Amino acid sequence: MQNIESLLKVEKLDYELSGKIKDLFENFRSRAIKDYKFEMTPIEYSDFRESIKADDALKGFVIFEDSIPVGFLLYILETNNVVELNLIHIVDNVDINRKRKALVQALLDKLNETNQWNVVSYPLLGIQDSFVREIPQLGFKMVGQAIVRFKFTDRTSPLIFKNLVTSEIQQGYSIEEWKDEYFNQASEVIHESFKNASDAKFDPRFLTLEGSKEIVHRITAGIFGTFLPEATSVLVNNGNVEGVCFVNMTNAIISNIPLIGIKRPNNNKGYGKLLLKNSVEKVIKMIINAKIMANEINATVETDNYPALRMYRKIGFREDCTYPHAYLHNANSTKEEAI
Ligand SMILES: CC(C)(COP(=O)(O)OP(=O)(O)OC[C@H]1O[C@@H](n2cnc3c(N)ncnc32)[C@H](O)[C@@H]1OP(=O)(O)O)[C@@H](O)C(=O)NCCC(=O)NCCS
Repeated sequence: MQNIESLLKVEKLDYELSGKIKDLFENFRSRAIKDYKFEMTPIEYSDFRESIKADDALKGFVIFEDSIPVGFLLYILETNNVVELNLIHIVDNVDINRKRKALVQALLDKLNETNQWNVVSYPLLGIQDSFVREIPQLGFKMVGQAIVRFKFTDRTSPLIFKNLVTSEIQQGYSIEEWKDEYFNQASEVIHESFKNASDAKFDPRFLTLEGSKEIVHRITAGIFGTFLPEATSVLVNNGNVEGVCFVNMTNAIISNIPLIGIKRPNNNKGYGKLLLKNSVEKVIKMIINAKIMANEINATVETDNYPALRMYRKIGFREDCTYPHAYLHNANSTKEEAI
């Protein structure tokens, strides 16, 4: 029998090539929310081309089957040499994992040319989860992630919240709104509380104070969405920051908790729940005062993070979906360069 395996070829995505994949990009755009669980429709094709042209943020590869473009991979090179693999889109299901693998291999070959990378981080959102059995063949490991939502449009979450009984805050402790002067101490809290968490496996910035500062800067500077200082809750004891729950708006109608952490000696004393409750209350107030419109507050949490899942559930958040998050460490980077 004749071998009918099609011929695949991968090319680096540059401005010129981006001009030839309009249909492919529009196919992805039309499926982004339903198939890839995007929270909003991605950028327009013309803006996508501009991002590729700028060459400082979005990068990628295109895969051709018998000279026809049938898929692409997009990634961003973040600080600390973290490579965020944002998306692999293949136009149909035919031989889909062979095509995905060819794209990831092209990325790894490119990264290995310079060795300037520490980790590739790839959330397999939506239909990408069908890659979960094959991506380990390229060396990737996996953690499970759950998206938890507090929906104002549902009855359950507000009802649980209304009937919530939390412990009293200890004397000397208070919950404050975000102020810029908390930046350094809050970064320390994030570093201390996340350095042993699964998040650090795919985001090594949590492993250092400098890296944690970079993440807190991104949140408070509004790079992940509009930062809400008045809904952000800071646990303070004698002028020391002991915990923080950040809140932002991902888009016009979705509020998000990008990070919540309590410093270790204060864990398991009810402070996580108190901070989260305070932040939810603040979001509700902002909605009532017409400062924001939000249908829900959401967060992402590892499926093995029992205290965090319990905390979210107790406040009224419900698990909506889970997805695998793949990560690959660079075995060849030196200790100083790496993690
Ligand atoms: C998740 C986190 C913020 C929770 O804060 P916390 O103050 O320690 O938690 P709380 O005391 O409010 O407890 C929340 C629930 O988890 C349970 N819990 C807390 N720590 C626990 C532990 N070590 N083992 C078992 N259960 C635990 C509590 O009993 C409580 O459940 P309950 O209401 O049914 O009794 C905190 O553990 C932390 O900073 N973790 C590291 C960072 C992180 O993972 N953040 C979340 C992802 S963004």
